[in-house]
Amino acid sequence: MILLAAISLPLGYTSSKEYAELEWPIDILITIVWVAYAIVFFGTVAKRNTKHIYVGNWFFGGFILTVAILHIVNNLEIPVSLTKSYSLYGGATDAMVQWWYGHNAVGFFLTAGFLGMMYYFVPKQAERPVYSYRLSIVHFWALITLYIWAGPHHLHYTALPDWAQSLGMVMSLVLLAPSWGGMINGMMTLSGAWHKLRSDPILRFLVVSLAFYGMSTFEGPMMAIKTVNSLSHYTDWTIGHVHAGALGWVAMISIGALYHMIPKVFGREQMHSLGLINAHFWLATIGTVLYIASMWVNGIAQGLMWRAINDDGTLTYSFVETLVASHPGFIVRLVGGAIFLCGMLLMAYNTWRTVRSAQPVEAVPVAQLA
Ligand code: HEM
Ligand code: HEM
Repeated sequence: MILLAAISLPLGYTSSKEYAELEWPIDILITIVWVAYAIVFFGTVAKRNTKHIYVGNWFFGGFILTVAILHIVNNLEIPVSLTKSYSLYGGATDAMVQWWYGHNAVGFFLTAGFLGMMYYFVPKQAERPVYSYRLSIVHFWALITLYIWAGPHHLHYTALPDWAQSLGMVMSLVLLAPSWGGMINGMMTLSGAWHKLRSDPILRFLVVSLAFYGMSTFEGPMMAIKTVNSLSHYTDWTIGHVHAGALGWVAMISIGALYHMIPKVFGREQMHSLGLINAHFWLATIGTVLYIASMWVNGIAQGLMWRAINDDGTLTYSFVETLVASHPGFIVRLVGGAIFLCGMLLMAYNTWRTVRSAQPVEAVPVAQLA
């Protein structure tokens, strides 16, 4: 599937739907992969030994089911040849279905799946029970109920009916509550264990990822307000918001989870070097902050420059002038990205050393050796 995507897109075969560009035969392969995943996941849950299903698995279940529905509904299309198809939807309906898909891909792929990880790895690494199990259940149901409605905030000031845009805006604002409920539940799991942050860089990854999650889910509802969106839309502000989530939240929680798992998977006591994890933590955090901050500056500058008009109603700045003004920000983003990448290289080295290190040998009584 990945190989076909890498070949077909450069050749120009695309359904031209954002985040759903692949043509219909690959869409079908994706569906098969996803169904296989669902069977493995739900089959394992069905065969469990305990009555209870831990909340992390609720989030994973929600993520798997919803992504399946999103993928199938948004990719309903009529094939005219092996490499070309046309969407079943037209015009504003197509746009609405597309962003119902796009926003919920963020909500269920980049959020619910990673919240499932959060509910497992934060308590494990902190060696504390989750702060409030009741809150986690409220968090789950509130999040999946509200996310589904927020898609129209991607279509402000378009041909989408005005009431739908306003509904999307209001539901996005409401979405702040469950998002922060989840963040607070994760953070408060550390109550009584805050001192561990001083000595445990893996826990630091997990907690700072939650802070970025809180930040991006505060920023998102603000950007969904129509007047704010009239400034931020089409600008680098959106790109900064994307990576506050993608790097700060998604990447950092994954990195923390991997550092927790790697020694366990390879039967080692711990990672080769805690110092390198600490260095990685700072590189990832600084890289992400540089990325986000440069895109804020660029985004607001671009928005204000595009809006500026002279007394006679003509535009004050040409597009190229805004691009020139954005150049320093692009350099800072490049530096931030490079710093983030350096951290990942440290992780690769640390993992390699961990896997190569001698396996701890279990003590065998001398009598048995004879
Ligand atoms: C309460 C939660 C959130 C809300 C209400 C929200 C809202 C928004 C808004 C208003 C935009 C700009 C739409 C536009 O002007 O085109 C946007 C874009 C985006 N957001 Fe969020 N956001 C939230 C959380 C997140 C998180 C946690 C992530 C990632 C993990 C994320 C990923 C994205 C992406 C990828 C885009 C760009 C979509 C595109 O145009 O290609 N969002 N979001
Ligand atoms: C150091 C790491 C990364 C760098 C340097 C980077 C850089 C970029 C750049 C330059 C763009 C194009 C932005 C534009 O149109 O101006 C982009 C878009 C995007 N990236 Fe990243 N990225 C990184 C990591 C990630 C990760 C880990 C994810 C997902 C988990 C991600 C998700 C996205 C998405 C969804 C977009 C499209 C945003 C939009 O068009 O609205 N990125 N990235």
